[in-house]
Amino acid sequence: MSFKKDTDGMELGECTRNPGYQDEDGGGSVPDTGTGVPGEKEEEDSASVKLDSAEEYTQLKPYAGMPKEVLLLYSSQARYRVPREILFWLTVACTLTLVALTITVIALSPRCLSWWQVSPVYQIYPRSFKDSDGDGVGDLKGIQDQLHHFEYLNIKSIWISPFYRSPMKDFGYDVEDFRDIDPLFGTMEDFEELLAEMHSKGLKLIMDFIPNHTSDRHRWFNLSRTRDPHYEDYYVWADCNASAPKPNNWVSVFGNSSWTYDEVRGQCYLHQFLKEQPDLNFRNEHVRKEMIDIIHFWLKKGVDGFRMDAVKHILEAAHLRDEPQVDPNKPPESITTEWDLYHDYTTSQPGLHDLLRGWRAEMDGYSREPGRYRFMVTESYDYHEVDKTMMYYGTPLVKESDFPFNFYLLDLSHNTSGLWVKHLVHLWMDNMPRGQWANWVVGNHDRPRIASSAGQTYIRVINMLLLTLPGTPTTYYGEEIGMENINVTDSQIQDPAGKYNASASRDPERSPMQWSDDMNAGFNNKTNTTWLPVHPDYRTINVEVQKQDEDSVLSQYRSLSRLRQSHLPLHRGWFCYVHADASVFAYLRELDGLNQAFLIVLNFGKQSVTTDLSSIRELPDQLEVLMSTNQENRGKVLQKSRIPTGAGEGLVFEYYTHTRFNPNHPAQCYISEKACYLRVMDILYTC
Ligand code: GLC
Ligand code: MG
Repeated sequence: MSFKKDTDGMELGECTRNPGYQDEDGGGSVPDTGTGVPGEKEEEDSASVKLDSAEEYTQLKPYAGMPKEVLLLYSSQARYRVPREILFWLTVACTLTLVALTITVIALSPRCLSWWQVSPVYQIYPRSFKDSDGDGVGDLKGIQDQLHHFEYLNIKSIWISPFYRSPMKDFGYDVEDFRDIDPLFGTMEDFEELLAEMHSKGLKLIMDFIPNHTSDRHRWFNLSRTRDPHYEDYYVWADCNASAPKPNNWVSVFGNSSWTYDEVRGQCYLHQFLKEQPDLNFRNEHVRKEMIDIIHFWLKKGVDGFRMDAVKHILEAAHLRDEPQVDPNKPPESITTEWDLYHDYTTSQPGLHDLLRGWRAEMDGYSREPGRYRFMVTESYDYHEVDKTMMYYGTPLVKESDFPFNFYLLDLSHNTSGLWVKHLVHLWMDNMPRGQWANWVVGNHDRPRIASSAGQTYIRVINMLLLTLPGTPTTYYGEEIGMENINVTDSQIQDPAGKYNASASRDPERSPMQWSDDMNAGFNNKTNTTWLPVHPDYRTINVEVQKQDEDSVLSQYRSLSRLRQSHLPLHRGWFCYVHADASVFAYLRELDGLNQAFLIVLNFGKQSVTTDLSSIRELPDQLEVLMSTNQENRGKVLQKSRIPTGAGEGLVFEYYTHTRFNPNHPAQCYISEKACYLRVMDILYTC
């Protein structure tokens, strides 16, 4: 396209003429004085433009389609060039400042908390949570139907006890196929649906991983007892015969010898738990490989983590020597329980942590996508050897579990006093390696329910403790409503451990979840069967009833869970002891740089007391009760010198201060990772 001269009447704005224009015949306003040499020509052209038309151009405005040389002429004028250069350097400076700021913020920012740190972990015992098909046993669809419960409680992490295919001798902890779902619980499709739905609701699923043993019905065991060359050493076999003594004095956790003679193979196999749970031989490389493949199988399906079962039993000493007796004078034939021996050769053997760290590394391979961190928690009761438990945290250079379960608070009911609770808390805080993350368990499927062992009076204060301590709380299903143990008569016993020794039965803490005061407490509303009896108190202690009551255990649990999540000092601040006596345990939660802090005063004693905290200079003289387990006390303003609490009462005070407690009392304070709050920018930074 080209413009005709003025004749076609086209107007270029205020311009009367296009000085740089060259028409079809080669004519135009810019004379061609070219010499034929390209470089020279250009120079001359622009020179002639300047020479010929300098005055004219100053009267013209830029227009669309103007030739390059004219454009350059304009753009080199100071009024265009200067602002352009200013803009250019401003952009450069801004970009550099932003990059520098970003780098500084990233470098100074403490790590973000991961999903397993920001929410309590809720344990579902799938047999007992919700039965969708009316066979009396809970199932995966039942769990899916109740997911709203976790939204209500503000809980994101759900650990589901085993649902693998199993003959159910130890209710799922005896696995027949690690890649299949037991029909009692549903199908693989049900599992996939449940997982997808959980993820869509922002919930994470933690599975049990049971490496120590399989069921005696597992294909590997059958191949091993028939001496298939590949599987021959998959389990721990030793020479013995049916009538002669066992290979050594080792005993099972469930009682009696941990060796059973197998007629098919003509040897004894080791089982640290039931005889239907033969121990795998982790000295066999194929076994190690199989277990890693299983980890991959579930991670690929999308599970978010594993609770690793009974890990300290994974390896045994290859020499199979007798373990030392606790009482050397006891006749050897009376050695039948795990308490009779020092487990020098059957637990925590060299090589165990290498195995766990290897599994951790496999899991880390799946953790790289943002928000897809795969969590690992180990289960090991090493009661009197806290150092052994702490080893599961790994070292600063090699990661192992995110935390080993902390079972010390399971002993809380032994002696309800503030000092005792402080002692149990301190056992963990004082021994936990620097920079690690704490966790707290007050109940699980192996231990009596805390509301029964400590008493209903204390369930609220225990939940308050659990949700205001630093670290991840674990809640066993039903603890959020204060469920209690059931009474199980001898003829009703289901648990194999209980069949061996009724007092060791774990049935009492496994009764159906109490959802409502409907039939079977809403656990199974199709038929009148439940695999264990429902607790008779279900008419008052159930989710539906407690939801209506602002003062219920459930409502308080929910408020605490929300409080914990929404306040920085509670989930990532300092934890400082301020007081402990026969009744009361009190501590602070504060964060450097933040004025807001919390004081928690918990009465675990048997009577009402008044606590004097006037010696804590950092506390304001007057404190307002933000939460109390006794609704009447909410909102009260108390003097720090006179803080009254009833037996089983817990108080949370929120206060504002410029004086932090931790700098003056470092020996009383703990923090996982130091962080400071910068008010002007509303960010956390490492300090
Ligand atoms: C763990 C489980 C327990 C089970 C045992 C054997 O300790 O918590 O329930 O019986 O391992 O797998
Ligand atoms: Mg083992």
